[in-house]
Amino acid sequence: MPKLVLSYSGGHDTTTAIKWLTVEQGYDVIALNIDVGKSREQPVVESRAMAAGALKVRVIDAKEDFLRYFAFPALAAGAVYQDAYPLATALARPLMAKLLVDVAKEEGATAVAHGCTGKGNDQVRFDVGIMTLDPALEIVAPTRENAMARETQIDYLKKHGIDIPWGAKGPFSIDENIWGRSAEAGVLEDPWQEPPPEAYEWTRAVEDTPAEPTYIEIGYEHGMPTTLDHSTAGPVEIVERLNDVGGINGVGRIDHVEDRLVGIKSREIYESPAAVILHTAHRSLEAMTLSKQQIKLKKHIATEYAELIYNGLWFSAHHQDIAAYMASTQRHVTGAVRLRLHRGQAVVVGRSAPGSLYDRALATYDRGDTYDQSAAVGFINIWGLQTRVQARKQLLSQLPEALKIAMPQGDA
Ligand code: ARG
Repeated sequence: MPKLVLSYSGGHDTTTAIKWLTVEQGYDVIALNIDVGKSREQPVVESRAMAAGALKVRVIDAKEDFLRYFAFPALAAGAVYQDAYPLATALARPLMAKLLVDVAKEEGATAVAHGCTGKGNDQVRFDVGIMTLDPALEIVAPTRENAMARETQIDYLKKHGIDIPWGAKGPFSIDENIWGRSAEAGVLEDPWQEPPPEAYEWTRAVEDTPAEPTYIEIGYEHGMPTTLDHSTAGPVEIVERLNDVGGINGVGRIDHVEDRLVGIKSREIYESPAAVILHTAHRSLEAMTLSKQQIKLKKHIATEYAELIYNGLWFSAHHQDIAAYMASTQRHVTGAVRLRLHRGQAVVVGRSAPGSLYDRALATYDRGDTYDQSAAVGFINIWGLQTRVQARKQLLSQLPEALKIAMPQGDA
């Protein structure tokens, strides 16, 4: 039988897919579980896949690569989709597509598969990633081709002698990895309804957070977080610790109505404590180390970058161009940021950077001021030249009498 590599999560859809791909489509299925963190099915992945009839199971711990090469570059770029979503799921998909293609090569497989439905963004990210990296691979999407209700899936598996002790069905559709958690569906589909407490798992409700704030300090090198509270730590450790301390303080809840690539507006509940803290801190470090023009253009390009990531175009020349620009912007984004986590908020309370453009001798109103206030007069005279000329040549004649009186009439 031809071999197929399936991106396997351990959930209903992909477990059913193993059987369906084997029985209905005639494949030998290799279940590839890509661990990008936080999956609660992780302990049962191997036993479930084998029970469902996989030829073999492979588990790849991709947490470190995910943060280092996907989430952290997006962080340094300030890429947040629609000013709300830190892109946890969107950033993981191209890595999964890449690993599917790699493993297919290693295993001599002619096809790959994923468990995405036909309504979301994830199918696009998988399909476009895979077909870009290896156009010869066949792509199968069992859930999109043959959507089964959960009960039908369980019956289908039972019919084939597979009885898996599934836990209780949660009320939402969840996707999670170390960069964030998303919840959709169920009562969340009513955008007027406040999300019920069970929609959240990583973060405490504000009323359950500690009365005392927690202070943390994050160190960045060229835009990438490298230390937490003065000790050097790897990406996984930094993000896990920030998810914990942020979650305890109720930081990182996002309730957003989002535009999917396929044209649907969708109500999403995200929890991303580490991402929210790291973006907040990073932005404040940039405010110290980038010029106002750099900040302005970078913000514009970050929007483009977030859309490119969201829309599944990770493996593109456009991305390479943007990544080169973003890396260049981070040359001096090195330093430390102190934050206060309290009652659902992450607030920057201090920042310092060797390449800081903030100059206290210029900013101060106290003794030691080096700024020449008398020079402001000439500067303003030249700065205001354009509006004075325009007012005299074009505007004053059109203004009502009352306003003309208030306008400058002298020589420009
Ligand atoms: N709306 C988010 C995105 O498109 C999260 C998707 C979650 N995926 C899922 N299969 N439930 O990136």
